[in-house]
Amino acid sequence: MDMKKLAGEKAAEYVKDGMVVGLGTGSTAYHMVNAVGELVKKGYKIQAIPTSKATEAQARELGIPLLTIDEVTHVDLDIDGVDEIDPEFNAIKGGGGALYREKVVASLADEVIWIMDESKKVAHIGDFHLPIEVAKYGCKQAFAKMEAFGWKPTMREKDGELFVTDNGNYIIDLHLGAGFDIQDVKEKIGTIVGVLEHGLFLNMCRRMIVGHSDGTVEIIENENK
Ligand code: A5P
Repeated sequence: MDMKKLAGEKAAEYVKDGMVVGLGTGSTAYHMVNAVGELVKKGYKIQAIPTSKATEAQARELGIPLLTIDEVTHVDLDIDGVDEIDPEFNAIKGGGGALYREKVVASLADEVIWIMDESKKVAHIGDFHLPIEVAKYGCKQAFAKMEAFGWKPTMREKDGELFVTDNGNYIIDLHLGAGFDIQDVKEKIGTIVGVLEHGLFLNMCRRMIVGHSDGTVEIIENENK
């Protein structure tokens, strides 16, 4: 049973004709984007804003009409994956390195849905590394600050090279451990020059949609949104 597909396809049921939809990034969002492509084939007049170059390419291939970020005036619904999420809807995103565009689009949306397989639901976030997007210029100094805060940073690499985001920046991954002080880390990140964005997405979603290995789909509503 493909838990990511279950969640992705369920989420696409929330897409209505005429909506402006934020299309997330990653292996779960991939299935949702395919399902949105099916809606377009059925005749839905959707416009979409992709959160990465990879998703943009997939959506283009499927014939989903796309907006550039400069053309977006509002987003009705954003659907995206997460790396970890706790019961208070505190999420870590950016495992794929798309956190900046993902946060821009999610912050513009009237409603946000996070989609995931059951492994992403945790009691406390932090076992997964927290990604931070930093400018190339000054990244060594930003890295040193993060080390001084005791966050065990690592420069993200891909194929033996430093990973470069769609925005031309680097990613520093913090190894904080489950149960870290979320507000404290968030505040301290804000003091570091060169940080473009961090992967903490706190209480942003209206609901989570979780695919389970037994083939069921769980929908958890956030009463505080
Ligand atoms: C991309 O940068 C991420 O925020 C993804 O949304 C997140 O890593 C979830 O990805 P998967 O659905 O591939 O696990």
